Amino acid sequence: MLKLPSVFAIILTQLLLLLAGCQANRALPPAPLAVTPSVALKNNTGAAGLGDPLYPTLGNGGYDVLHYTIDLAVDMQSHAVTGTTTIRAETTQALSSFNLDFQGLQIQKITVNAAPANFQRAASELTITPATPLRNGEQFTTTVAYHGIPRAIDDPGVPFEKIGWLVYQPGIFVISEPSGAMGWYPVNNHPLDKATYTFRITVAKPYIVAANGLLQATFDQGDTRTYLWEMRNPMASYLATIDIAEFKVVTAQGPHQLPLRNYFPPSASQKMLATFDTTGAMLQFYSDLIAPFPFEAYGAVVLDDNFSTALEAQTLSIFGPNTLFDAAVAHELSHQWFGDSVSVKTWRDIWLNEGFATYLENLWVEHTQGQAAFAATMHNLYKSMKDQKLGPPGSPDVQGLFAPATYVRGALTLHALRLRVGDANFFKILRAYYNRYQYGNAATADFIGVAEEVSGEQLDNFFNTWLYADAVPPEPRAP
Ligand code: TRP
Ligand code: ZN
Repeated sequence: MLKLPSVFAIILTQLLLLLAGCQANRALPPAPLAVTPSVALKNNTGAAGLGDPLYPTLGNGGYDVLHYTIDLAVDMQSHAVTGTTTIRAETTQALSSFNLDFQGLQIQKITVNAAPANFQRAASELTITPATPLRNGEQFTTTVAYHGIPRAIDDPGVPFEKIGWLVYQPGIFVISEPSGAMGWYPVNNHPLDKATYTFRITVAKPYIVAANGLLQATFDQGDTRTYLWEMRNPMASYLATIDIAEFKVVTAQGPHQLPLRNYFPPSASQKMLATFDTTGAMLQFYSDLIAPFPFEAYGAVVLDDNFSTALEAQTLSIFGPNTLFDAAVAHELSHQWFGDSVSVKTWRDIWLNEGFATYLENLWVEHTQGQAAFAATMHNLYKSMKDQKLGPPGSPDVQGLFAPATYVRGALTLHALRLRVGDANFFKILRAYYNRYQYGNAATADFIGVAEEVSGEQLDNFFNTWLYADAVPPEPRAP
């Protein structure tokens, strides 16, 4: 398979031409926005999908997960896991059976409300039939005990990386966008069903486990240690991560006493550590620009090999070795607002993540390097879009999810909007959109709605030109 270097590393280093021609552009009407189960319900069977236009089998219908408790022992020699994932959920219909997404690994036992349950598996669909059917509106708990060696997942949306549970020389890391979570725990694997998480991960000493949220405790068992991590804000499954290595851990405090914890390779150079010295200033900048930082902690995991890009795991962005530069640090941080707190309703809305993070990373450039540097960057971004004839980012196909059109034309859509409605309206739009959809989900139409509401302008033509029409729009200019 073609191994592409990091999509955004390239964007950010102005080497976009390398990627010319590797994305599919299609003229499509705006995607329908209602998310409905993709499978007709019969006999109170929960749907096997959530109607995502690009990933019809991701997620499941009939219930809403409230909390995951992922309790795993990880053998760092064989990389096998043994343990139990406990899911607390609430039904949204009567259910005689329901599905989880889970790929690979051997299941030992499943219970629903403490009673053993029957189950069947077909590819990544796990169908559970409780001994007693569930009523509509009922809270229930299901446990899945399993073991085995998690395998990385090949996702057609991510041609540049394997995703999910990944092994490298120093240990293990997890990067799942979009579908990789189901390779290591049973899950309602779609951003529409966010939930809180507890991670209880046991490893041999001297390995260290990083995960999302706050480290609440460690338990010493002689040769092994258990790390208890809590994510107390809603999180999409693709943003869940556990990362295991003999890390060098560096802690600090950000603005408003926000705990910062960075996980570096033991051999980290001074230069590598210094990459993250700006995190506090960036946190301040984006908090002032958008809204207070949405979560209880922040930090980075730095990988020292095998990974060529970066991912905005919630509260714990993960960086490959060639993404250790300011704009990438800003990009992943800004995703915490746009992507992690406000998440997509469907994967087709991906420009709401990547276009926003690419534009916000450049707002940091504007803030630190001034107007002229910012204008030059925007002009270069426009030129690369034009030279590559980047198609519209509003309705990508699976292969186009993380293509340059999503990042570059997505970011330029925001820039064009800013020049069209003026700075005051533009930043009001960003804030209003964020505040309305924080800790939830939004689709492209939701953003357009806020933009029109706040600016008082009719923007259908504008957004059609930028998001859905094939032709490359003229360079955005101040009126
Ligand atoms: N969201 C990542 C970014 O910040 C890109 C990405 C998507 C990714 N899927 C991935 C990176 C899988 C690594 C692995 O641009
Ligand atoms: Zn991104």
